[in-house]
Amino acid sequence: MQNFRFYNPTQILFGQGQIEHLAVEILKHGRKVLFVYGKGSIKKTGIYAEVVRQLNQHAIPFVELGGVDPNPRISTVRQGAQLCREHQIDFILAVGGGSTIDCSKAIAAAALYDGDPWDFWCGKATIRHALPIGSVLTLSATGSEMNSGTVISNEETLEKTGSGGDALFPRFSILDPAYTFTVPADQTAAGVVDIMTHVYEFYFSREQFATLTDSISEMILKTCIHYGPIAIAEPQNYEARANLMWASSLALNGTIKVGKSFDGFNHLTEHALSAVYDITHGVGLAILAPYWMEYVLDAETAPALAAFARNVWDVSIADNFEAAREGIRRTRQFYTSMGMPQRLGQVGIGADRLDEIVEKAVGTRTIGSLKPLTPADIHRILVLAL
Ligand code: NZQ
Ligand code: ZN
Repeated sequence: MQNFRFYNPTQILFGQGQIEHLAVEILKHGRKVLFVYGKGSIKKTGIYAEVVRQLNQHAIPFVELGGVDPNPRISTVRQGAQLCREHQIDFILAVGGGSTIDCSKAIAAAALYDGDPWDFWCGKATIRHALPIGSVLTLSATGSEMNSGTVISNEETLEKTGSGGDALFPRFSILDPAYTFTVPADQTAAGVVDIMTHVYEFYFSREQFATLTDSISEMILKTCIHYGPIAIAEPQNYEARANLMWASSLALNGTIKVGKSFDGFNHLTEHALSAVYDITHGVGLAILAPYWMEYVLDAETAPALAAFARNVWDVSIADNFEAAREGIRRTRQFYTSMGMPQRLGQVGIGADRLDEIVEKAVGTRTIGSLKPLTPADIHRILVLAL
């Protein structure tokens, strides 16, 4: 187990009806709000009306920024920062999924920065200050509601990358599982895959003796495997939605990172895919992860992949290689059963831009904690996934 620091200041208000605390929580941090949301789902579901009622009841002035795209764009961040300056905004409220929350975090940092906001994602500047933000989560997937990361796409250069800093932790996040009853089956499934892949990024590193961390990781995976199909079959099943919602936060709020290192293959490669092809993050991950597991399986990694098969999928095969293969087979089968595609070709991705994808994902770096992967290895995995 590696040495670690753990810090997470986000206050969680979990459960049905927690929206009633929204205004009080906002007023702890600000007086004038930028209310950020996506393409309109919150208007259909009634969440928009509830938020507006809360703000009006407490006479909190607000300016709206709707229309945030899935895979949120730097142009929207620039627009939001401009609105903050024009209207002397001192608090950002994100109501939506990971895209809306990430965009809000980005705006919070950009509003206090004189240069172009993309500087934070291309490595020219570091996020040290930001307006305070709070979130109302409507989709269980990214963990953005309880972490300090923000993933933004540059639609001009076709890049998509993460940035972050302690200033971006939401001051509070309202997690009402009933707000996810309306998430369609495909987005529910993509969210489940995203949660599971956040776990893989740390679970599959080879540090020994992080037993507690690994056990928590396995329980998060089992929670996804149990409740994902239930949430798809019965969208209004509160127990399923509630367990998935907390799994979303736990998988990327630092808890399962402690004592482990980051593998990175799945997220770095998927971000490059969705930068170029604008696909849903969880869909890209569902395609990549099983091919990656097959590619990295060797004598050194077989024990870790076999432990995954036995502890998560209840595989009872004694041989490590055979157990690992069975675990990978069940992972792929599970994703398919939730309607996820298995190949890049199914989402319109061919062989023509793979060099560009690899370049955008890792440049010339070797990455990977479970097994080091060169750019050539990543290219080979993508070819296998075509
Ligand atoms: O835009 P609206 O109309 O709100 O519709 C959204 C969108 O079409 C819809 N939706 C959300 N809540 C709903 C709903 N539809 C019905 N009922 C509801 N209650 O779902 C669609 C997807 O929303 P989005 O926010 O894009 O999904 P997600 O939460 O999966 O976020 C994905 C983004 O987060 C990034 C991804 O790369 C991607 O850009 N990530 C952020 C991370 C972080 N900050 O820590 C880590 C992740 O690994 C990930 O990279
Ligand atoms: Zn993710």
